[in-house]
Amino acid sequence: MPTQLWYIKHANLFSWLADDEQRDIADRSEMFRCQRNSKLFFAEESSEDIYLIKEGRVKLTRTSATGREMILDILGPGEIFGELSLIGEENRSHSAVALDDALVCKMARSDFEGLLQRHPEMALKVIKLIGMRRRELEMRLEDLLFQPVGNRLALALLWQAQRHGISEENGSIRIPLSQKNLAHLIGSSRESVAEQLTKWKKSGLVTTSYRSIKIIDPQGLKIFFKQNSTEKSDS
Ligand code: CMP
Repeated sequence: MPTQLWYIKHANLFSWLADDEQRDIADRSEMFRCQRNSKLFFAEESSEDIYLIKEGRVKLTRTSATGREMILDILGPGEIFGELSLIGEENRSHSAVALDDALVCKMARSDFEGLLQRHPEMALKVIKLIGMRRRELEMRLEDLLFQPVGNRLALALLWQAQRHGISEENGSIRIPLSQKNLAHLIGSSRESVAEQLTKWKKSGLVTTSYRSIKIIDPQGLKIFFKQNSTEKSDS
């Protein structure tokens, strides 16, 4: 099994640091396994640690006053989360829940701050990451506001396929995600997601199995999106 240091060396954010600095991070951080569906932290809790995902995926969620879940994002190996405390957010903006059995590394915020002080380039990388996540969120918000459910689902599947999909030899891409989680990702109901998937199954675009969707024809999904987009170009 790879060591804690191996994972630090292979994470984008840390891979460029000198050996002794990487070793120091590995020594100061705690690596632990968590089971699927276990909560790493809750929204509004005070923020003390920064996390790095080594194996598996973690979803960032919030639950509305009426109990509806919304998934903000799904992160995978090599990605960090819980970093907003570094820019002054004292409480967690979202809950973090393991979507698979995962291996995660936890660092005290004070240790991470020390790292940023020693390496201003690292601070720049974190700022860029926060900015990039904000931009992605703005784009998704636009889709949530202006696109019909089918298009939101097509975009979410293509997005998840690109980030966490498992490519198969025949060109199809498997996405290990339940229909419920897909619904929470696009602000819709499980029933609407199931209804759209049934239509796509009939036209050969996707297949479904337990907690998993397979995109058989990614190009077909893109064409579906274009044909059904409510945002027509003027040209
Ligand atoms: P924190 O607020 O400590 O805990 C919740 C985490 O969700 C947050 O830090 C970020 O790591 C992460 N997060 C917040 N906003 C986004 C976003 N737009 N995209 C991806 N991750 C985010």
